Amino acid sequence: MSADSREKSYYVTTPIYYVNDAPHIGHAYTTVAGDVLTRWHRQKGVPTWYLTGTDEHGQKVMRTADANNVAPQDWVDKLVADAWLPNWKALNIANDDFIRTTSERHTKRVQNFLQKLKDAGFIYAGKFEGPYCVGCEEFKLPGDLIDDKGQKLCPIHSKPVEIVDEDNWFFKLSDFRESLLKHYKENPEACQPESARNEVISFLEGEVRDLSISRSTFNWGIPVPWDTKQVVYVWFDALLNYATAVGLGDNPDSEGGQKFAKTWPADVHLVGKDILRFHAVIWPAMLMAAGLPVPGKVFAHGWLLVGGEKMSKSKLTGIAPSDITNHFGVDAFRYYFMRAIPFGSDGSFSWEDMGARYTSELANDFGNLASRLTAMIEKYCDGVIPAPANGGELAELLSKTVSTADNAMCALDFQGGILAIMDFCKRINLYVTETEPWVLAKDSANKAKLEEVLYNTAEGIRALAVLLHPVMPETCEKLWDSLGANTLGSISEQKIGEVANWGTLPAGSKVSKSAPLFPRLEE
Ligand code: ME8
Ligand code: MG
Repeated sequence: MSADSREKSYYVTTPIYYVNDAPHIGHAYTTVAGDVLTRWHRQKGVPTWYLTGTDEHGQKVMRTADANNVAPQDWVDKLVADAWLPNWKALNIANDDFIRTTSERHTKRVQNFLQKLKDAGFIYAGKFEGPYCVGCEEFKLPGDLIDDKGQKLCPIHSKPVEIVDEDNWFFKLSDFRESLLKHYKENPEACQPESARNEVISFLEGEVRDLSISRSTFNWGIPVPWDTKQVVYVWFDALLNYATAVGLGDNPDSEGGQKFAKTWPADVHLVGKDILRFHAVIWPAMLMAAGLPVPGKVFAHGWLLVGGEKMSKSKLTGIAPSDITNHFGVDAFRYYFMRAIPFGSDGSFSWEDMGARYTSELANDFGNLASRLTAMIEKYCDGVIPAPANGGELAELLSKTVSTADNAMCALDFQGGILAIMDFCKRINLYVTETEPWVLAKDSANKAKLEEVLYNTAEGIRALAVLLHPVMPETCEKLWDSLGANTLGSISEQKIGEVANWGTLPAGSKVSKSAPLFPRLEE
């Protein structure tokens, strides 16, 4: 085995989404963020693993299937094949794996894990009585609910909770309260942003109850191995996906065992703030009980809001990603959500705001710069990149840009990273305005200066293409082709750590004009 193949992968996950309905832009938001994060790391030359998938068990999915008169397995198979997989493909998500909780590789490993926890004494028989929200698939505490004229509602779904009264199996969650508190106090980066960490710490400072981890009143789930009249609680089942997908519990010598050693623990679990507690309390406690390392970071981002409330499948307020991409294109979609909303804060989608940013930032600042450059290279240099020039101030700014953007991207500050890159884009535009190549071109005595200006502009655009590639892969690939930069290899092979080496774009590269990167929007 080479040293490289033993190196641990930078492992990023998204939530696995309920397949009660098709995806909306809230799901796309998390999955695009994970895609940008992993693409950035791949371009840093880090071995990377990116997982997404679907959460297919539980009452919420079962009831939707029932309501549509379809067997649950048929329902989820159809939605995954017709809606979820095509959606990720359309958004250019480069996930390395896709896990489904009804797959055998998952269910087997869940059962083994559960049996181990039982054998280790962390599971006992008990009785659960209390409120449950099927929308959240969550046992609620009375303090979690809002009162609507005497009726108790889930604050996320604004729907009445149901009362569950069952004999179930319980996990000794309370045993892990102290260790979890210690973990978050000692490792502030383990739960972010700070508001999320504070919420988790204050939850852990209160009473933590043991968790019912099985259900006995329906059968759409994984059977509890020693009590097959019960199915595993859907969250206990779902959280394990992050580990089952990379070989949890397999013999260390087997393929699964080796994958696990190279991948676990996850570096970043990306989640929306709606499911923070599951990921920052229950999940690490399950891992601690099994003697496994806990994830490096749970990052809870904000919500996309509709009318001030969380956009949701249950409330039918979801906007399909294709409604937006049909108008603006996939890359503008990916750019907009990462650029416009600070990661960690709530935000709303507006057609006006997106239209305005599309025109000013993408079409004018970025797209026009690229078309002007290729047009000038064709006109003044016979379509061939001139000899490398000294980038001077531009080269210095690029070095700073790369380091600012890299720090921001690795800290999941996508907005900060993109802004740093777009500031560099603005600076190149300014350089072109100031040096006026079209004026230089009027006098052949200025040939050397003209070629210097055009080289530097092209070189700046080369760097922009590489830095924006994780955000807008298709557009930047087109730009790469039109710069004739393929002699350097494909754009995805270009390393972030080498972007700032001024003079990389070789003299003689054949530039070709392409269609505008961001065409004018139709009214
Ligand atoms: O909770 N704004 O699945 P889910 C931003 N199956 N992000 C949003 C969003 C919004 N309005 N709506 C959804 C589940 N999301 C469980 C997860 S993981 C082991 C199991 C995103 O279909 C966000 O990431 O309800 C949120 O946490 C997730 O979708 C919830 O998806
Ligand atoms: Mg939900």
